[in-house]
Amino acid sequence: MGYQSVYDRSMRDPATFWAEAAELIDWDRPWERVLDDTNPPFYRWFSGGRLNTCYNAVDRHVRAGRGDQPAIIHDSPVTNSKTVITYAELQEQTARFAGALQALGVEQGDRVILYMPMVPEAVVAMLGCARIGAIHSVVFGGFSSRELATRIDDAKPRVMVAGSCGIEPNRVVHYKPLLDAAIDLAEHKPAHCLILQRPQEPGTLIEGRDRSWTEALAAAEPADCVSVAATDPLYILYTSGTTGQPKGVVRDTGGHAVAMAWSMANVYNVEPGEVFWAASDVGWVVGHSYIVYAPLLAGCTTVLYEGKPVGTPDAGAFWRVIQEHRVSVLFTAPTAFRAIKREDPNGEHLKRYDLGGFRALFLAGERCDPDTLNWAEKMLGVPVIDHWWQTETGWAIAANCLGIEPLPIKPGSPTRAVPGYDIQVLDDMGEAVKLGDIGRIMLRLPLPPGCLPTLWGNDARFVQSYLSAQPGYYLTGDAGYLDEDGYLFVMSRIDDVINVAGHRLSTGSMEGVLAAHPDVAECAVIGAADPLKGELPLGLVVLKSGVTRERSAIVKDLVAMVRDEIGPVAAFKTVAIVERLPKTRSGKILRGTMKAIADGKDYRLPATIDDPAILDEIASALAAIGYARRA
Ligand code: COA
Ligand code: AMP
Repeated sequence: MGYQSVYDRSMRDPATFWAEAAELIDWDRPWERVLDDTNPPFYRWFSGGRLNTCYNAVDRHVRAGRGDQPAIIHDSPVTNSKTVITYAELQEQTARFAGALQALGVEQGDRVILYMPMVPEAVVAMLGCARIGAIHSVVFGGFSSRELATRIDDAKPRVMVAGSCGIEPNRVVHYKPLLDAAIDLAEHKPAHCLILQRPQEPGTLIEGRDRSWTEALAAAEPADCVSVAATDPLYILYTSGTTGQPKGVVRDTGGHAVAMAWSMANVYNVEPGEVFWAASDVGWVVGHSYIVYAPLLAGCTTVLYEGKPVGTPDAGAFWRVIQEHRVSVLFTAPTAFRAIKREDPNGEHLKRYDLGGFRALFLAGERCDPDTLNWAEKMLGVPVIDHWWQTETGWAIAANCLGIEPLPIKPGSPTRAVPGYDIQVLDDMGEAVKLGDIGRIMLRLPLPPGCLPTLWGNDARFVQSYLSAQPGYYLTGDAGYLDEDGYLFVMSRIDDVINVAGHRLSTGSMEGVLAAHPDVAECAVIGAADPLKGELPLGLVVLKSGVTRERSAIVKDLVAMVRDEIGPVAAFKTVAIVERLPKTRSGKILRGTMKAIADGKDYRLPATIDDPAILDEIASALAAIGYARRA
């Protein structure tokens, strides 16, 4: 069946469509309703059904004879090690880890926060939580103690699981002290911490509270999989919103398992037993879905790569991993390919490797510029598929579904709606815009299985953030257009979220940090275009009158504060000190206009600006630190 007929079926009769897809999963009890629409705008999938995600991702494969197949290949150039874990070993380890959690008092429905580097134990911990119905929340290692503390206070975990350290190419990341500081900052105090002691920098354990991973697992009784409701939460993953308070995206159990398994076959065209590699981090949604859950639910081998696209040791690292582990499909962010292209524009490293079995490259996480897509295609000689999604959906909204029917590629477009998603581009009044015109990209409800049912503990914020702009629709926060062939073009965000190297960050939270500096009167943070990372945050700061401190010292403080309070991942390094900020007469800071100036783009003088001369001042301040202006 071709793409169009599969898509049409998913729209015409979603219940039958997803009930068929649900056969990819082993259920302990069948559902009563495929799509439960009794409480709009909240929709639930497979209500009444029961299953266990860890059982589906691990145990059933062992039963079916895949026990000796590698489940995880950990390839770590930063520690110079490679480890293979089979499905049988993964079953043993997750059962022990789950037992260790139970010994620490963790019960079904309890939250467990993970602050882990890219090691197999991170996957074991996620699956181990799922095994006993505990809800994990992984916090990316590049976030600071303060960000971790915010998440601790929202999720209120019983137990924290952390690595003692992370290894970045240029330094060791001191996770254990960061964890201790976060618990000090948080109001909620987790009862216990389980610490994976890494030889590169073991942490100091706090007696009574902390236990070492090795000892806890050695003492634990292996725990079996418990049956949970399809609508029970599997995990919470925090993501940046417009305000400084991150949103706890909830993922349910049944819909997620079905969407993950279906997407492996239909979007990525990968079969059980093949090697799938998502070069991301378990702290992001790409890591949750395509390092951990989807490949394992599908019985594939997943590659867990603790390294970078360049510098570990060179721009041939990705080709080495693909050759050595016989990767069929790679998924990463465009920024990784921009980094490789910058170091090795002619693909000299590629000549050293044989990528024989490699079939396709998928890119997501940020807009994929046509240059990068064309370059990757030319170098690799395989389809390069841009696809668009977000933490909230958990899997692709628009893609070229290679497992259904490959469609012609249009660089700059993630192709067409994935079956299950009804993409509409609307204006501010809720009317569909003309083909080719930019508007707000919205999804008609209900969202397909796998997408967020709500925000953790906050139904009201879920409705207000996503469902209130236009009744009956989900607001993606992205703007773009559809062309005459139904291809989607995602152009920008409509809120204060920026995308730095595929990482989603809130400018509002950075502004909150800058505003707390005693010398700062007013500030704004914008995402300025960057050839490598897509966007980089740029701070514009007005000092309080009478401040006499050296400006360079203030800038240094501000950079250090953002690094300390949000984390190195924000890559906040540049601040312009200006006399005033441009505003509308009603006092709204003109961030969009300042971004256009920083990016050297033409802009229209906003009709409501209180004093246009300020824009010239901003332009000269930005020119002085290397930003361009043409308008
Ligand atoms: N723990 C602690 N710190 C981390 C971290 C982690 N897990 N991951 C990154 N950081 C730190 C880095 O060390 C760096 O700190 P620095 O300022 O001291 O150098 C900072 O956060 C920014 O890191 P990163 O975004 O990785 O930038 P980079 O300049 O080191 O590397 C790329 C640039 C393009 C190579 C890199 O961004 C990359 O590989 N991106 C792939 C995209 C990706 O994985 N996206 C995820 C969504 S699919
Ligand atoms: P995250 O929730 O961190 O995955 O970030 C999701 C956001 O990244 C989306 O809302 C988009 O703004 C952006 N994004 C992700 N994939 C793409 C893509 N293929 N094209 C354009 N933007 C993308």
